[in-house]
Amino acid sequence: ASAPEIEITRPVRSFTAPNDLKEPVEEIIPAVPLRSKVWFNNPDDVNEITDLNRPLIGIAQTGSDLTPCNKHHLQLAKRVRDGIIAAGGTPIEFPCHPIQEGTKRPSATLDRNLAYLSLVEVLYGYPLDGVVLLSGCDKTTPALLMAASTVNIPSIVMNVGPMLNAYAGSELVGSGTVVWNAREALASGRITRDQAMQQVALSAPSVGHCNTMGTASTMNALAEALGMALPGSSSIPAVYRERGACAYQTGRRIVDLVRQDVKPSDILTKDAFENAIAVCTAIGGSTNAPIHLNALAKHVGVQLNCDDWERIGYSLPLLLNVQPAGAYLCEEYHRAGGLPVWELLNADKLPHPDALTLTGKSIGENCNTDQTNAPHVIFPFEKPLKSNAGFFHLKGTLFNSAIMKTSVISQAFTDQYLSNPTDPMAFEGPIVIFNGPEQYDAELEHRKDIGANSILIMRGAGPIGYPGAAEVVNMHAPGRLIKQGIVLPCIGDGRQSGTSGTPSILHASPEAAAGGMLGYLKDGDWVRIDLNKRSADVRLTLEEIAQRKKEMGLYPYPPAQTPWQEMYREAVGDLSEGMVLKKAVKFQRIAQNFGV
Ligand code: FES
Ligand code: MG
Repeated sequence: ASAPEIEITRPVRSFTAPNDLKEPVEEIIPAVPLRSKVWFNNPDDVNEITDLNRPLIGIAQTGSDLTPCNKHHLQLAKRVRDGIIAAGGTPIEFPCHPIQEGTKRPSATLDRNLAYLSLVEVLYGYPLDGVVLLSGCDKTTPALLMAASTVNIPSIVMNVGPMLNAYAGSELVGSGTVVWNAREALASGRITRDQAMQQVALSAPSVGHCNTMGTASTMNALAEALGMALPGSSSIPAVYRERGACAYQTGRRIVDLVRQDVKPSDILTKDAFENAIAVCTAIGGSTNAPIHLNALAKHVGVQLNCDDWERIGYSLPLLLNVQPAGAYLCEEYHRAGGLPVWELLNADKLPHPDALTLTGKSIGENCNTDQTNAPHVIFPFEKPLKSNAGFFHLKGTLFNSAIMKTSVISQAFTDQYLSNPTDPMAFEGPIVIFNGPEQYDAELEHRKDIGANSILIMRGAGPIGYPGAAEVVNMHAPGRLIKQGIVLPCIGDGRQSGTSGTPSILHASPEAAAGGMLGYLKDGDWVRIDLNKRSADVRLTLEEIAQRKKEMGLYPYPPAQTPWQEMYREAVGDLSEGMVLKKAVKFQRIAQNFGV
């Protein structure tokens, strides 16, 4: 992004505590007996203790040297503890399985379900009355929320916050997004490898998670939109003073939630999910959001699928001017007012203003006085950055389900593929197949069969094929074509980084390794995408497809390298279904099994 002018604006909404925070009152009788009290209050138990009116509050710590995006939580947790103690609770901090997006191989998503399982066991198996979920890096937020929802004890999400703005010279460089831009510039010879590396290094200027609207910012924004984080909290940069205040207030609030017995199942209703989908469009949220929210819904027992995403989200506008769909980064986002729920609310486009949040008020009540004084960062609903900016849900002979993020369809892509006067929303061409990212990296620049009308296919990158599903579908054209200004459409059974601005067709389900059609394609097959009809088809007859399946057999994938990979492959569902452990979803609200 070229350097937008920096305007010094006072934040319109600095972080304040919800109005109904009460002073701790020892006599407050919890709405139901404390779980910890029932647990310990057994005359035969030598562990019996008497002062059990103080709720035991877990602090799920995701910060560590292995998860630097969340590491600042090691400091923030102290403020959370202070808040818990001030409100009359007892804090108990414990570590979570680390998940680091940029480092974990073969994919960080492989560990989302592992961290989920491990946290379920902790929350269920210890006498905790409530839990503060310290979120941040991409998969930490959904893993924590999924587990807290399965167990269903009072829970609150607290985000570590984004990094500060980063600059290369006067140019804003957003985490993640700079990688995809530098990769193309390098392939076309516009910059050197050293320059690319320097830009990437500059893009991480402080503690905190990615400062773009990638998966980390998105999932934390959506946790707030769902009502599971304090209003105004998700956008506060990690190093701002307000972040510490937010940690303290989060600690106080969880104690109230325990005393009032407000559980995830009270907040995570279908209405809450529909609100989150609407907000996701307004902020230009990550393509990983449908995966994680569909998964969370499954664990809470709410019906949610990719048709809901298109039905609610597609026709809404993009309001937030933050990379990768816009120009700015998260510091401007926060200073402009943070999560722009009020814009949807005032336009009567927030699907369910009455949905309950953890403040004890509805989402509409939480934000009805908010506004922005930075309309270049948060665009007004009537004059948005882009209209119809949600996800397309595509189906056809190529797959049963795949999504496309419309807010990142560039002018270049539109000119090349979506501007045929007789067929304006469709494109077609011969395919070039890559069996996984390793083959793509090794062969892209040498493949002679890639032309200006090719469609690139990435397969073997789904939950089973590349355990956890790799973020590799956002491919680029070979350097010789980039130099001519050519972009190529991408389709794949894997994912792409939420920081990527590529309008790829992602999450093709079922994946090749699960018998999906991508596994039976051959180079040169003709594919047609019609965005108006939301269709994606290969030009083969049913007989030809049947013949291919017989002749080619199930798409081969490499053996598992770890025990978890093997167990995961047997247990996991499709990306379109949230990639959950299929056997796990029947376990719902399990804290009740203790009779409290
Ligand atoms: Fe952790 Fe982006 S890599 S937040
Ligand atoms: Mg990512």
